[in-house]
Amino acid sequence: MRLLVTGGAGFIGANFVHHTVEHHPDYDVVVVDAFTYAGHRSSLAPVADRITVVEGDICDEAAMDEVMAGCDVVVHFAAESHVDRSIDDPGPFLRTNIMGTETLLRLARKHNVGRFHHISTDEVFGALPLDGGRFDEETPYSPRSPYAASKAASDHLVRAYGETYGLPFSITNCSNNYGPYHLPEKAIPLFVTNALDGRTLPLYGDGRSVRDYLFVTDHCRAIDLVVHSGKEGSTYCVGGGAERDGVQLAETILEVLGIPRDRIEFVADRPGHDRRYSIDATRIGEDLGWAPSVSFEEGIAATIAWYQAHEDWWRPIKDQTGIITWDQK
Ligand SMILES: NC(=O)c1ccc[n+]([C@@H]2O[C@H](COP(=O)([O-])OP(=O)(O)OC[C@H]3O[C@@H](n4cnc5c(N)ncnc54)[C@H](O)[C@@H]3O)[C@@H](O)[C@H]2O)c1
Repeated sequence: MRLLVTGGAGFIGANFVHHTVEHHPDYDVVVVDAFTYAGHRSSLAPVADRITVVEGDICDEAAMDEVMAGCDVVVHFAAESHVDRSIDDPGPFLRTNIMGTETLLRLARKHNVGRFHHISTDEVFGALPLDGGRFDEETPYSPRSPYAASKAASDHLVRAYGETYGLPFSITNCSNNYGPYHLPEKAIPLFVTNALDGRTLPLYGDGRSVRDYLFVTDHCRAIDLVVHSGKEGSTYCVGGGAERDGVQLAETILEVLGIPRDRIEFVADRPGHDRRYSIDATRIGEDLGWAPSVSFEEGIAATIAWYQAHEDWWRPIKDQTGIITWDQK
């Protein structure tokens, strides 16, 4: 089995590569990544001698043609993923998330790839009110940011390649992941690293927007199951079943670290900020027996412990990237 992981040097991709090397030691794992500001070789260092890493842009058809030859399965993570960056400049999101995905689909068809698995997001469904509702596989698409719109377009292209050309595909739409190797521009690692540095934890608006938190290793297990046992042409929603608002999130992190609550700082809200996301993960539970195994409390404690033990990973990234903004996703 030769498995191509696009965006494997990013947060979820790297965790998925670690998972695959551990659980499928006989697989030939190839990572392709453009190493944008979000991709880091250090995230793959513990498994570097077990995988092949190719530096390349998924929009580069000639380079991807070479990379995809001989691959049985593609697991596609590569994307521009930061909502605030998409609000500042949508261009790179349209290029990578839409055109890059289409390039990969065309080549997957050419090389008779056995399964193209596309990683997507719950943000394609839009926003929910605070007082109810959940997204599932039948929820109509209603993206509200350039990032979400570009991911929605990529989902449509994957399904179109399945319908039109018979490309064997699957899609997962997941909620907010957190865990090791998460870039400190996203809320949880930003809060943890700021707290460790004695800085404030910035919360958008009233801090009451709700996200459904999923520990990244649970997500990797779900992807593994769908790739190996999920029905061809199917979509699965994957959620952590752990809804928390920003204030609860910040308070939990401060409490674990024994830091007073007055470190929370309220900052101007993001334009068009989605109020709430929540996933109904019934289908993947019933079809594949998946359920999250890590509670929010366990996951947050494990994440904080990981950041405390891996300053060598996050400090240079935080310094180099010069985090100017942060993302609740
Ligand atoms: N993080 C979340 O909570 C979350 C939730 C739902 C869905 N997703 C989706 O999961 C996937 C991975 O998210 P993440 O948080 O790990 O993102 P990330 O930003 O941490 O990583 C993205 C990776 O893609 C690479 N990349 C970017 N442009 C590329 C290009 N043109 N060619 C090749 N590589 C390129 C980057 O270098 C980086 O390694 C994305 O598709 C994202 O939309 C993420």
